[in-house]
Amino acid sequence: MIAHGGPPLPAGNDPDGLWQVTFSLNEVPPPALLEALEAQALSASIFAAEVDEEDDPVRWRVDLLYKARPVTAALEAELAALLAEHGRRLADTPEVNWLPHQDWLEAVRMVRQPLRVGRFYIHGEDDPLPARPRLVAVQIEAGLAFGSGEHQTTAACLEAFDALLRRRRFPRVLDMGCGSAILAIAAAKADGQCRALAVDNDPLAVRVALDNTKRNHVALRVRTLVGDGYLDQAVRRAGPFDLIFANILADPLIAMAADLRRHLAPGGVAVLSGLLDRQAAAVLAAHRAQGLREIARVERQPWVALVLRRLRPPPAGPRR
Ligand SMILES: C[S@@+](CC[C@H](N)C(=O)[O-])C[C@H]1O[C@@H](n2cnc3c(N)ncnc32)[C@H](O)[C@@H]1O
Repeated sequence: MIAHGGPPLPAGNDPDGLWQVTFSLNEVPPPALLEALEAQALSASIFAAEVDEEDDPVRWRVDLLYKARPVTAALEAELAALLAEHGRRLADTPEVNWLPHQDWLEAVRMVRQPLRVGRFYIHGEDDPLPARPRLVAVQIEAGLAFGSGEHQTTAACLEAFDALLRRRRFPRVLDMGCGSAILAIAAAKADGQCRALAVDNDPLAVRVALDNTKRNHVALRVRTLVGDGYLDQAVRRAGPFDLIFANILADPLIAMAADLRRHLAPGGVAVLSGLLDRQAAAVLAAHRAQGLREIARVERQPWVALVLRRLRPPPAGPRR
């Protein structure tokens, strides 16, 4: 529990302001840590932020908001102890700032829906439905799962998918690292014949994903599964897939390249994201080694989505 107290409000400030504590983590916070942070602050927001170091490209910035002023002298030790309970540590010194009054409920929302990417219209429960009936409406309540559509990596995947759909259909789709299942649901809503499997190793994300499939009336066509990569037999049974989305970080993408190829139908397409521009060459090389070729890429700096196709085996030659 973070201790509060200390001097009263900064002179001349509105008593409706809030105290913000900001710090970074080197590793993605596990769901239990997010819950612990949310339980003891007015709100907790997590952002993926790029940093400069080559081998530590993504850092997780955490913003906590409090009504009462945290005791600055004790803060670092208190946060370190809370993080240690969840196997994480501070990557920098926490900063405390006074934020003057504004509509905080609105300001701390990470999800600024509705938003439009190609044919897709991503919206929340209270947003108006799209005025243009041809748009594919996807209602996403991201909760603690990643995948509100707002992050550049998700938007890049949707943009790539929109372009792919102009040329062909994808009856069997895998959304590996599904988070809110935004990509699997978008696929199912864009094509009434499509069946998708949405997999995540975070049970909390899969719970959110399942709720989202029901909200979008596609629960019968989008199955959700808690699983680590391609390890679960259910992934093999549902494949091979015509399209695999994998919006995960560069290292896991490289590690999963051979599994991805095994589960992708010949001629099938993979949309990979979660990688920074400077990581694209390494991710591409790992997949080229598996017989995939780049057919397109979407750049949303500093992030990139690679669109790869699994080559069809050459036709068998005449028997001699
Ligand atoms: C960047 S989020 C992408 C969410 C969503 N697909 C989107 O595009 O917005 C990556 C997700 O991958 C999941 N993930 C990471 N490693 C995984 C693994 N080995 N197996 C399954 N899911 C994994 C994380 O839990 C997280 O929900």
